[in-house]
Amino acid sequence: MCGIVGFTGTIDAREFLLNGLMRLEYRGYDSAGIALTHGGGLQVLRVKDKVAQLRKAVAASDIEGSCGIGHTRWATHGVPSEVNAHPHCDCSGTIAVVHNGIIENHEQLRETLQAQGHRFVSQTDTEVVAHLVEENYAALCGQHPKLQARLAGACATGQAEQQAALAAPAHAAETTLFVEAVRATVAQLSGSFALGILHADHPGTIVVSRNDSPMVIGSCEQGAVVASDIPALIEYTREVVYLDDRDLAVLHADGSIEYFDPAGVLFTPTTYHVDWSIEDAERGGYPDFMLKEIHEQPRVIRDSIAQRFDAASGKLLFNELPLSAEQLAAVDRVYIVACGTSYHAGLVGKELIEAWSRIPVQVEVASEFRYRNPIVTSDTLVLAITQSGETADTLEAVKQARTAGAHVVALTNVVGSRVTREAQTTLYIKARPEIAVAATKSFLAQVALLTLLGLYLAQERALLSAAQVGEIYAEMQQLPAQIEQILAHAAVIEDAAAQCAQADTALFIGRGVGATTCYEGALKLKEISYLHAEAFAAGEIKHGPIALIDPAGSQDPLLQTPVVAVALQSATYDKMLANIEEVLARGARVVALATEGDTRIAKLTDLVLYIPPVRECLSPITASVPLQLFARAIAIARGCDVDQPRNLAKSVTVE
Ligand code: F6R
Repeated sequence: MCGIVGFTGTIDAREFLLNGLMRLEYRGYDSAGIALTHGGGLQVLRVKDKVAQLRKAVAASDIEGSCGIGHTRWATHGVPSEVNAHPHCDCSGTIAVVHNGIIENHEQLRETLQAQGHRFVSQTDTEVVAHLVEENYAALCGQHPKLQARLAGACATGQAEQQAALAAPAHAAETTLFVEAVRATVAQLSGSFALGILHADHPGTIVVSRNDSPMVIGSCEQGAVVASDIPALIEYTREVVYLDDRDLAVLHADGSIEYFDPAGVLFTPTTYHVDWSIEDAERGGYPDFMLKEIHEQPRVIRDSIAQRFDAASGKLLFNELPLSAEQLAAVDRVYIVACGTSYHAGLVGKELIEAWSRIPVQVEVASEFRYRNPIVTSDTLVLAITQSGETADTLEAVKQARTAGAHVVALTNVVGSRVTREAQTTLYIKARPEIAVAATKSFLAQVALLTLLGLYLAQERALLSAAQVGEIYAEMQQLPAQIEQILAHAAVIEDAAAQCAQADTALFIGRGVGATTCYEGALKLKEISYLHAEAFAAGEIKHGPIALIDPAGSQDPLLQTPVVAVALQSATYDKMLANIEEVLARGARVVALATEGDTRIAKLTDLVLYIPPVRECLSPITASVPLQLFARAIAIARGCDVDQPRNLAKSVTVE
């Protein structure tokens, strides 16, 4: 939700800001803007458009400076428009604020500030922050006559010209007042926020703070940098600090950074090393990030399973899990909490953990879990799955589970992210940065890790022998080559997609883990192509959803209702064929996902995507790949932006 960047240093800040915003655009793309301090003043430029347009507007303007902040927005309060775009300013136009999150008490603060004479121009919750800093700064500078006159004058008239006549910037030593004004402001805010703030009187200084919204900070040769996510920074530094709630960081142009706790006490934070490279955050010759990330999946699976198996002992290793065999034996229930695609990975995890370790597993949508008083005890193991590590709903579920006494294990992609600090244990998926809004490689990495975890739990509870675990692990090692093989047949998948792209509704059906594969396949399709798609356990369709198949289209194959059927070799294969017959009889156009060598399926439909044979429990990893390509091909055929689908943002840091 919203991307924030900030740079202060010895070089032109514009390139950092614009490149950083491009790299964060997956967080929101309704509008964008930057602010720079320069020559004792503050310049702000905003567009109701994507960052590419902002870049053009910057090139056509005279905005410049070596200290600035930038923002790419995902609207929460106030429609996407230039006036609601960030940065937002105070009455005098000397303070600029970028914000990610929701200020929950903004209405009450706005009323108070308006009564004090502040004039608001936007509908956003963010604008209150600029006026609050202005108010607090004025109070702290009470004994400084020049500043007082300037603040009073600007508030009363709001004349932009008045700013030009303002006195020279305050002395640098007064930066303390700016920092204190922000600290006082943060104490008045409730809700989630990540803030970057500039003050024209303190050129070269950026003050940042956060509560429940991510903020990553680092220094580099050219100065100091801040962003809401790592991809914006990795070109400059790989040593990063994650700010804790309500702490403040003060970034200076010489690259030094001061950290203050909410009481204003200076402290030294923990630094994390990020091993992602700049290439990880770039398209690398692919037309879009989604395709690049789909093609990275063989590597992702290879990394996910590497070093998990100790050949000497014949055992799977999970050294990060601090639970002893006795503690694992005592686990009587597993909850998996997650949202969206991560939730679908959890559904696969449930099937495998229950099958192998015989522990009951409940998969919960995180936003529901926290409001429904679930049965959690100290013998409950909670797995919180979140690619970003910042999803507000999942974080709240984690807090609730911990309060109830459960051991919480986070499965995440982002080193040092919020969930890693909320959970007792972190298991990292090895996806590397995922930029496309639609999750692909992170899903495969999550499923691979859950598969290994399921095997490990069974191993530790002595329910699977070393030979059984070793055999499945050996088959997992074949997965990267099998995915390569699927990717090599993308053209067949694209052909099938071309025949379905004009439909209004698509259904996905499967059984067992095939059904979970379908849930994810349908989500991919609807989120990037806007083609309405629903997934069902195949046995369920006759209980209602089959009514969605419209026989009217049966004359024209392009208008038939597509039904994507995951019909791989499995214990329920024959039942799947029967379900396919049922939908064909109602006029559906079936796209079947079948196992190489299957001779029966081709008698039912000519649209068959064959994938290499794998053990059923591993099939979500291979079968998801053609469904990702299918969704992407349909989205492109329908003229959609696959990396930045409408209304969505990758990291959902609000509830
Ligand atoms: C869909 C997608 C979302 C995320 C969901 C959770 O392609 O990306 O459904 O899976 O917002 O995000 P994380 O995993 O970061 O908690």
